[in-house]
Amino acid sequence: MKVTVAVIPAAGRGTRMRPATRSVPKALLPVVDRPVIQWIVEEGKRAGVTEFVVVVSPGVDDLLYSHFEGMEGLGELAGLEGLRFTWVIQEQARGLGHAVLQAKEAVDNRSFFCLLGDNLVVPGRDHLAALAEASDGRSVVCLRPLADEDLDRYGVAVVGDTLADRVVEVAGAVEKPGRERAPSRLGFVGRYLFTPEVFACLEGLAPGYGGEIQLTDAIARLGEAGRCLGWVADEDLLDVGNPAGYVEATTALALWHPGLGGRYREFLEGLAGDR
Ligand code: G1P
Repeated sequence: MKVTVAVIPAAGRGTRMRPATRSVPKALLPVVDRPVIQWIVEEGKRAGVTEFVVVVSPGVDDLLYSHFEGMEGLGELAGLEGLRFTWVIQEQARGLGHAVLQAKEAVDNRSFFCLLGDNLVVPGRDHLAALAEASDGRSVVCLRPLADEDLDRYGVAVVGDTLADRVVEVAGAVEKPGRERAPSRLGFVGRYLFTPEVFACLEGLAPGYGGEIQLTDAIARLGEAGRCLGWVADEDLLDVGNPAGYVEATTALALWHPGLGGRYREFLEGLAGDR
């Protein structure tokens, strides 16, 4: 499936990253030399996305917008020329599912990637092309095996038949079930390919886990209707939503960075040698 539009829900409050996010939106926190949102936009672009629908909270849109403003003539943002951005405001913080639903009009009946702002990948270790390839016209969610202690931090799939190497049917889903209630160990790790069917599933959803409208509950509906696949990624994504993950992401991306990686590796080796 060819996918040229991506939704980036970027309205989260970044509570796990306080106090860093008291006045800076978490999508603008820097990782090495660029903000989180730019890493995500670059990932989308590598997969062929030309249009980004960014869902932001009130008051944050100007800041995010101004990062990309005037990029056509800017060497600093070379490579991002020609990308189109639509900014959608989520007036009330009613959950991830509600945020994605706000993008419905801008997405306009196309299939789209959904790229969660907490999760980054090291360039070259991307998953989006594989999601698009795995789709037979159905939605495809990116899955990873989770450790027991993470089963209350992620949405978890009800897994059906295996269709191909790494491709399974998703028959349902539970948000943050915990070890006792987990229907499998395969969790949703922040990368999704949705057909427009997901909007009908989101509409009319009652608040779920944590009193919020959950994207996972829409995936459950897709799965129950036989309209969702899962692709099992071969490595974990980085998670900049908490301080430990943020440091790990900074390390992984600094080591990758063409201009910094060599020096940073030496620095880390020196630190490790001192211990
Ligand atoms: C969200 C989703 C969850 C998913 C996770 C991936 O949770 O609700 O289903 O597994 O992102 O990072 P959050 O991390 O916003 O609590």
